[in-house]
Amino acid sequence: MSDKKIFIFDTTLRDGEQVPGCKLNTREKIELALQLEALGVDIIEAGFPISSPGDFQSVEEIAKIVKNATVCGLSRAVQKDIEVAAAALKPARRPRIHTGIGTSDSHIKNKFNSTREEIIERAVQAVKWAKNFVDDVEFYAEDAGRTDNDYLARVVEAVIRAGATVVNIPDTTGYCLPDQYGEKIAFLMNHVPNIDKAILSCHCHNDLGLATANSIAGIVSGARQIECTINGLGERAGNTSLEEVVMVIKQHKQLGFYTDINAKELNPMSRLVSDTMRMPVQPNKAIVGANAFSHSSGIHQDGFLKDASTYEIINPEEVGADGSKIVLTARSGRSALAFRLQKIGYSYNRNDIDTIYQTFLQVADTKKEVMEEDLHTIAKAYNETTVTA
Ligand code: KIV
Ligand code: ZN
Repeated sequence: MSDKKIFIFDTTLRDGEQVPGCKLNTREKIELALQLEALGVDIIEAGFPISSPGDFQSVEEIAKIVKNATVCGLSRAVQKDIEVAAAALKPARRPRIHTGIGTSDSHIKNKFNSTREEIIERAVQAVKWAKNFVDDVEFYAEDAGRTDNDYLARVVEAVIRAGATVVNIPDTTGYCLPDQYGEKIAFLMNHVPNIDKAILSCHCHNDLGLATANSIAGIVSGARQIECTINGLGERAGNTSLEEVVMVIKQHKQLGFYTDINAKELNPMSRLVSDTMRMPVQPNKAIVGANAFSHSSGIHQDGFLKDASTYEIINPEEVGADGSKIVLTARSGRSALAFRLQKIGYSYNRNDIDTIYQTFLQVADTKKEVMEEDLHTIAKAYNETTVTA
């Protein structure tokens, strides 16, 4: 069973915090880190210590306070970056340095004006340098999604030989299709001779809306860590959403995987991140969006009211959501109207509902949503006509 555990590496405080407008101060980062630990994440990427004195301080304070999770700091494959990350992580019980370099030809030529051989050398030197400070070193092959697989296998083999415990295969630009990303991981599992000495990690961006699917394809092919963020926050279109991968794994038991995430904390965590970062969650966001458990069309409402499983694959309580909602709009049906009226104290028979429904539709056509006060008005008007009739 142990090889089926998927390690959840949360990067809300690093990749997520890179979102314009989402910057966090040290106090906010500490609060979120403690909640991430309570949620059950295995690794917290707390920041990029060399990027600013404030981020150094945040990583250091999180390293002091977090008890069980591994605390990770990002660096480039640069000695000074690694030294600064190591200094920030010094108080951590379980420190991890995350270092790396671009490996795609585009990064090698356009970013580094370098060669494939030189990049392997820099990667190896970075891992070796980081090993002087911590045992747990994760290497990222930036833009691995667009890196030639044969070359990537050579990079992965070299960094594992240099001591990397985890090798991150980022689809930095969110370019890959799920089968391509899955095949990339499978290729590495089958062609890197020392792959048993490290675990592979999926770090997928969402530029084509495929981050969750790609991460799942990655673990099916042999990766054992997923890098993700609360609410899918991250550069550009974001990162893999933590709540999505956790619930895919939980819902699809046939995959045989598990995580240590306490799913009941997913919605509270999502709200905390949204409030702290002042970044609203899109209403239709899976698992944590305001509409994730709302039913508004008549056909769905009728089925849901007969048996929730007809239109819900997750019990909202399982993920700490407020509960299922029957929302009334001009597309809603009689069952939903009767249900909502009953909830606020009006019980009617089928004939009454047939009549009230006509008034309801007239109101509904003028509004986005029919609210409780509208229902009171509709019900009171109907009750008056029936009393005077
Ligand atoms: O997307 C990416 O490649 C990254 C690396 C720094 C891990 O965020
Ligand atoms: Zn990233």
